[in-house]
Amino acid sequence: MERSLYERLGGMESIVGVVEDFRDRVAKDARINQKFARTDLARLRKMLIDQVCEVAGGPCTYTGRNMKDAHAGMKVTSGEFNALVEDLVATLDHFKVGKTEQAEILGVLGPLKSDIVEVDSSQVGTPLPATYQPAPALMR
Ligand code: HEM
Repeated sequence: MERSLYERLGGMESIVGVVEDFRDRVAKDARINQKFARTDLARLRKMLIDQVCEVAGGPCTYTGRNMKDAHAGMKVTSGEFNALVEDLVATLDHFKVGKTEQAEILGVLGPLKSDIVEVDSSQVGTPLPATYQPAPALMR
């Protein structure tokens, strides 16, 4: 049988590295970082690791909100969605993830666009609406 995407990515250590590099790129990217102004970044890190690990066929269970609920009221534009995907591709290139694996990852993310994008516009750098309710911080 074909090895899972999780195995081909290099398992948990690689996924943690990818998520942290991606988080740092997003934090520096003025096209999208305003949306994260009130986010608990420790929670986001854990949720992204669990989500990527589970989707890739690894031994994790994602416990966060579904994509529609998590992004509802954030007013993410199509341009901002594309900017985030660009940052992810930069991370995957940095980690020398093969084009086959990259295509598999983008194939999973593409269909989520309609759950996340609320504004059909190429504008980027739009603010987080004051009414947006962030998820509660992780209990530690
Ligand atoms: C395919 C693309 C995306 C995926 C897979 C994704 C995934 C996630 C996940 C798993 C969470 C955690 C949910 C939770 O804590 O319950 C989250 C939260 C978040 N996402 Fe996304 N996301 C995507 C696109 C975007 C885009 C384009 C933006 C904005 C430019 C964005 C902004 C945020 C923010 C600000 C949070 C934190 C929400 C909070 O504070 O509670 N996401 N996302």
